[in-house]
Amino acid sequence: MFKKLKQHWKVNGLHLAFIIATFALGGSLCGYAGRKILLLLHMDKGVSWVLLYILLIVLLWPICVILISIPFGQFLFFRKYIARIWQKFSGRQKVRIAVFASGAGSNTQVIIDHFAGSPSTRVALIVCNKPGAGVLSIAAKENIPALLINKEQFLNGDHYLAALRENKIGFIVLAGFLWKVPVDLIKAYPKKIINIHPALLPKYGGAGMYGHFVHEAIIAHKEKESGISIHYVDELYDHGEIIYQAKCGVDENDTAESLAKKIHLLEHAHYAAVIEKIVMKG
Ligand code: GRF
Repeated sequence: MFKKLKQHWKVNGLHLAFIIATFALGGSLCGYAGRKILLLLHMDKGVSWVLLYILLIVLLWPICVILISIPFGQFLFFRKYIARIWQKFSGRQKVRIAVFASGAGSNTQVIIDHFAGSPSTRVALIVCNKPGAGVLSIAAKENIPALLINKEQFLNGDHYLAALRENKIGFIVLAGFLWKVPVDLIKAYPKKIINIHPALLPKYGGAGMYGHFVHEAIIAHKEKESGISIHYVDELYDHGEIIYQAKCGVDENDTAESLAKKIHLLEHAHYAAVIEKIVMKG
């Protein structure tokens, strides 16, 4: 049983011991507090006290468990655990994200890891236009369905809308996807498609400005800073409303390669958290 729990919650033995201790102490504290409250209110007699006691326990349990989890260092685990229970009871569906990516997929991996175990969001589909792209191996390793798309069918209308709907996709994230998103798709997902660009837009964006071309242009223009831009996708390249930017310095001895590394670090640090915020906003 303990082995199963360790696998299910992805924790080690010590972590599991703290979790069980938190459950036990949190449960006792909530039972004790419930009785005390009923005594104070002189409601500890009659048939109704049992019902009141059960109601109080249900209300107090999350508070007590969260309180006890703090000294045990388990706050983050229990915050997620309670959010997941709440999700089930409230009947809210998880938002299913499709990541459109056709490169190595390092951002995709960070996004998948960020939402692993999330009660509200999951990466449900990888959409890719390049057979053999690294991101497809990531999809296979993570057991996430992948959809390989064809350029003509993608660019001419709504061909892939059916597949997205079939997979109940509610939000689209571009992470290294170079084709222009067709208007039909943008209309079907208003303010629900975002992209990350490896420069500070509106500079160094537009057709042909991707990957190393961006970093080479920045070095050639002797820019003092660069960064990332996360923006909504509209019908023009790198043009939609900017949601978030983060900057880094460009040193005299930086090359396109060293700048690309700095930018990747920024992307990995910020993209998933920004996606979470936007998805939560609905
Ligand atoms: C990132 O630099 C992103 O800004 C750009 O494409 C790159 C994808 O990198 N749109 P990876 O495949 O996630 O490593």
